[in-house]
Formats: sequence, C-alpha cells, structure tokens
Amino acid sequence: MKGLILSGGRGTRLYPLTYTRAKQLIPVANKPVLFRVIEAIRDAGITDIGIVVGETADEIEAAVGHGERWEVQITYVHQDEPLGLAHAVKVSQDYLENEPFVMFLGDNVLQGGIVELVQQFRASDWNSQIVLTRVEHPEQYGVAELNGEGRVVRLVEKPKEPPSDLALVGIYMFDPHIYQAVAEIRPSWRGELEITDAIQWLVEHDYKVFPYIHRGWWIDTGAPAAMLEANSLVLEELVPSVKGYVDRDSEVDTRVTVEEGAEVINSVVRGPTIIGQRSRIVNAYVGPFTSIYHDVVVENSEIERSIVLENSTIRDIPARIQDSLIGRDVTLSRSPIKPKAFKMNLGDYSQVGIL
Ligand code: G1P
Repeated sequence: MKGLILSGGRGTRLYPLTYTRAKQLIPVANKPVLFRVIEAIRDAGITDIGIVVGETADEIEAAVGHGERWEVQITYVHQDEPLGLAHAVKVSQDYLENEPFVMFLGDNVLQGGIVELVQQFRASDWNSQIVLTRVEHPEQYGVAELNGEGRVVRLVEKPKEPPSDLALVGIYMFDPHIYQAVAEIRPSWRGELEITDAIQWLVEHDYKVFPYIHRGWWIDTGAPAAMLEANSLVLEELVPSVKGYVDRDSEVDTRVTVEEGAEVINSVVRGPTIIGQRSRIVNAYVGPFTSIYHDVVVENSEIERSIVLENSTIRDIPARIQDSLIGRDVTLSRSPIKPKAFKMNLGDYSQVGIL
C-alpha cells in the first residue's frame, strides 16, 4: 500500500503568511502540519509516500527531502495547476501503479492517526473507504449519506441541503478502480475535478464504498482560526519536557515544553505551551495554548493562545497579545497606545511599530 499526500494549493485564506510559505509547512505545536501527516501515514505502516506539489514545490521539497528523517521513501508528483483532488489522483497514477493507497490532505490534522483505518481497509474487499465525522456545518464540506447496513449510498460536495451531518474528512482509501472514476467525471462549478464526485461515481457503478466514522477531533488548518484551534488541540496532547534553561525566578508549569537552548528568565509560562529551540522568554508571560517557534524573543510582553514563527521579536508590548498568528522575522515593539488586546494575522518579515 502507498500513501499520497496532497500538498499543493495557494493557501489564500492564510494570506499573508502563505505569500512566503507553503501552508502545509506552518508549524502546529512547533512541527509543520505536513510532517505530522507524514508521521501519521508512517505510523500506519506505509513507507512509500507520494507528495503532490504545485507552486510551492521547491519549498516543500527542501523541507521534506526524500524522507530519510522518517525512514520513508518520498516521491514528488507535480501538478501543474490546482485542478482538484481528483485531478491530483489522475496525475499520480504512474507513481501509484496498481497499489491501493491512502490519500491524505496535507493541511489536515486528525486526532489519533489512521492506524485503525488502514488496518480495516487492508482486511476488507472494499474498493474505497472514506473517513467521515459529524460536523455542525455540513454544507461547507463533502457530505455522505449511508444506508441501513452502513454502506455509503450518496456523496455530495458542499450541498445546500445536506443529506446528513457526516462530512468527508480529507482522508480516503482507494483501490485502482478510482482511476476509471477520475477519468469519467467532469469539472464541478468551481472548475475542479472533485474527489467527492469520483467516489460518487464508484457508488453509482456498484463499487463498494464504506465509511470510517472518526470520533476524535479533526481540523482542516486552511484558515487562521482553524490553525490556532489545531495548535491548541495538538499542544494538549504533547508530552512535555524541559530541555532548555528555566531560571529560579520563573514559574513554568508541568504542561510546558522548553526545547533545547531555549531560556525562560523571570517569566511565567502556562501550559500547554511550547518554547522552541534558542528562544528567549524574558520578564514575560506566555499563556496557555501558545507555540513559540525557534529563535524567538518575547520580552516584557504577554502572549496567549498564539503561534509565533521563527526569528521574531516581541518586546515591551503593553497589552496582552492573543489569538494571533505571527510570521517569521516579525518585529513587534513598544508603542504608547494601549489597546486591551491585539488580534493579528501578520506575514513573514512584517515590521509593526504600535504608536
Ligand atoms: C475538500 C473536499 C471536501 C472535504 C474537505 C475536507 O474541500 O472537496 O469534500 O470535506 O476537503 O477538508 P476543499 O477544502 O477543497 O473545499
């Protein structure tokens, strides 16, 4: 069995961060979402993994390499234009050969991984298995309808009147019959070849499509609020460790991870939180659900439920920063005005001076 990770797309909802960085490489709890996806597939016993890349191919290839770090074999498949998930399957056919495969969207984070799903599919004679989960707004997703025996009988992409509250999570298992399906379907109203339509084609042609109902959390990190939510959820599951330096005047609780070379000086850090390598927290408060990536300085400032990327500096900010996504090489410095909270979505290399 092979793995296929879709890692193209422009990430427009995460602008400006994604002007300069592929969305799948934004870290959640200090590890890029794409790395978490690779690990989930590897943990399910799959070591042959294809990554479908688009405009951000160079950056993704530079970050992931050939997969030695995870003891997997990574192959890149180029998709010239983001023409849909089913189109990505089409361009990957040569790589996938005739093996069954799991397809995983590279910006999705799923609690608990996919071990059980892969086992179930391997042991079955099904042609496809799709991961479903109950959601509040099914109209924003692909939606499945099941029959009494639990088999999938209909799938619709973003229906105005959803037939159920079971949304398609971005994880799918297929056997080679999917190639016929992706060859037969036509582009949707948004000009894409929808994987939902391809699976619907399988259903209509009497192929066996079964669900896997996922019960934990699942986040599509495509937008800033979702990214922060995913960060909080993953931080909660992190096993904390303190490898850096915490001075005697600091208060760091048991749910805080301090990575190698990081320093916490005269500060309060509340977990779950992670302080990245070589970062310095000085006279500061870092509140729960915060990920400080490597080489960051937070000094005389307070920050909570946020993500700060590498090489950024936050200094002398007079009000607490919260619910913020701060890019690389950002400088946030003192200004005399005191808003009660900051809400920011700043791009890499931003310079902010607050009056
Ligand atoms: C895609 C799929 C949709 C699925 C969703 C999961 O939507 O088309 O069926 O529910 O991923 O994240 P998109 O993100 O392309 O709108």
